[in-house]
Amino acid sequence: MQHLNLEVLIPRDQIGAKVAEMGKMISRDYAGEQILLVIVLRGAALFAADLCREIEGDVVLDFIAVSSYGSSTSTSGVVRFLKDLDESIEGRHVLIVEDIVDTGLTLNYLLDNLRSRNPKSIRTCTLLDKPSRRRVEIRPDYSGFTIEDLFVVGYGLDYDQSYRNLPDICVHKEAKH
Ligand code: IMP
Ligand code: MG
Repeated sequence: MQHLNLEVLIPRDQIGAKVAEMGKMISRDYAGEQILLVIVLRGAALFAADLCREIEGDVVLDFIAVSSYGSSTSTSGVVRFLKDLDESIEGRHVLIVEDIVDTGLTLNYLLDNLRSRNPKSIRTCTLLDKPSRRRVEIRPDYSGFTIEDLFVVGYGLDYDQSYRNLPDICVHKEAKH
């Protein structure tokens, strides 16, 4: 592929190995319990599709779509639901699946919102983590790779909705938050 502004950061085989490892860890932690995966559209869809197949046991999938108000630099941390869950999460073991945790505002808001619906437990899982950009204190329970303050695309992550289909995670050198 000829994209001058793209550079591979995490190649597909490393992603695959990490996702398998995360699936094993989750399978162990939830042994004997049903897990309701809450997949945050659209970015986490590809990660979740691979992750759920690495989890042994009873897994239910549901999807949620949110968008933050304003630009990421001025956001209040309030997110708008574009699509809510179809399932009730009351009394269930919920695992939120995200592609990347950046400022942490989205995941923080989702956690607060979903907690108020009385799940039996709630945890968070992200493929990528950029802790240097955090604006709220939040640490994902399961995290694949910690990365520097770089804008990345591929494996579900987009820049203006493009590049989600790249099999590797790449740095987009021109893209800005
Ligand atoms: P947060 O609320 O700042 O943690 O933002 C999380 C969301 O911002 C993610 O779900 C992504 O949609 C988006 N995002 C943050 N960093 C990147 C990146 O490097 N590439 C693509 N999307 C990103
Ligand atoms: Mg996203």
